[in-house]
Amino acid sequence: MGPFYFLAMVLSMCSHAHLALAWTVNNFLMTGPKAFLTYADSVQVGAQSGIHECKHQFAWERWNCPENTLQLSTHNGLRSGKTSTRQTSFVHGISAAGVMYTLTKNCSMGDFDNCGCDDSRIGQTGGRGWIWGGCSDNVAFGEKISKQFVDALEGGQDSRAAINLHNNEAGRLAIKATMRRACKCHGVSGSCSIQTCWMQLADFREVGNYLKMKYEHAKKLEMDKKPTRSGNSADNRAAIALAFRSIARTELVYLEDSPDYCVKNRSLGFQGLEGRECLKGNKNMSLWERKSCRRLCYECGLKVVEKRIEVVSSCNCKFHWCCTVKCDKCTQVVTKYYCARKQGGRKPHNKAKRRNRAQRH
Ligand SMILES: *[C@@H]1O[C@H](CO)[C@@H](O)[C@H](O)[C@H]1NC(C)=O
Ligand SMILES: *[C@@H]1O[C@H](CO)[C@@H](O)[C@H](O)[C@H]1NC(C)=O
Ligand SMILES: *[C@@H]1O[C@H](CO)[C@@H](O)[C@H](O)[C@H]1NC(C)=O
Repeated sequence: MGPFYFLAMVLSMCSHAHLALAWTVNNFLMTGPKAFLTYADSVQVGAQSGIHECKHQFAWERWNCPENTLQLSTHNGLRSGKTSTRQTSFVHGISAAGVMYTLTKNCSMGDFDNCGCDDSRIGQTGGRGWIWGGCSDNVAFGEKISKQFVDALEGGQDSRAAINLHNNEAGRLAIKATMRRACKCHGVSGSCSIQTCWMQLADFREVGNYLKMKYEHAKKLEMDKKPTRSGNSADNRAAIALAFRSIARTELVYLEDSPDYCVKNRSLGFQGLEGRECLKGNKNMSLWERKSCRRLCYECGLKVVEKRIEVVSSCNCKFHWCCTVKCDKCTQVVTKYYCARKQGGRKPHNKAKRRNRAQRH
């Protein structure tokens, strides 16, 4: 599967990606197909890491990110990009962040011929007792290239495209906002009388946490969702600009309230909660995890079924001189819990439905 196809699928939930695909390739062909191919794999890895982080951030929530790329593609993913919810705003943000993050890391690692650490401030005084040195991660590079790939997936002039572009940027800004200064001591016998410092990327998990917080405070934009008949009229652009006026570039935005995620929704590519795992019976769990069966199954009118699953793992490993490790295979039976439909396949009853609607997401 080509990297573009992949990225398009990831983002297709929310954009007219099939049109934009051709667009992006054209953009890059102008700078040369070689440039395109150089970065394309990293873009794919980056988008994937975004989705991976999304799954972590939304574990045990009713909506839990696109399950995998295959599902999106078989789910006529390329046609389902019509909605703009709080959840899709997160997908855009985290994917854009993942792509920028990976490209920036690649650059610092010397993976690309044409870029390296950001040395623009090397040797300058940064503050009391420290100067710029070392290898600052080159976010400007990552930002520029990721923008060319990810933003080009938005072809339209309508509010939806504007929202997606805004959320892409919020994702990239999250990378910058979570960067940290790291320093190294110098001076006589490590006295640390002088330090050299550089800016480095945070762990991607931290970026995920940051964007999850932005998701929780995401702003709903009140505006016309349809593109104007004239396509890119000045009126249209003015209306969009007006709606965005009070929104900081770092905030995630969306247009539509989330649907009821208790219900399977094919047009959204949402599988519903039947078959979803939930957690039970471990004192170590957080309150959030401990209530997962209630949130995912019971409150959506489903029951919980128990399944015993054999897990095979390596055990009794012994080290043999030199140098092999020999292990036994041990079988362990673990109990897992899943949401299942009640006998007779009853739909979620109205009371549960109402309660769910009352919840924000
Ligand atoms: C960029 O980094 C990713 C993740 O570390 C890696 O999988 C990919 O191969 C790298 N790209 C290049 C061109 O080395
Ligand atoms: C699926 O989601 C769309 C968009 O939010 C909504 O209009 C539609 O009613 C939903 N369908 C079902 C079966 O809930
Ligand atoms: C609970 O957590 C502690 C420390 O994280 C761990 O050692 C212990 O095995 C856990 N207990 C269970 C039942 O998972």
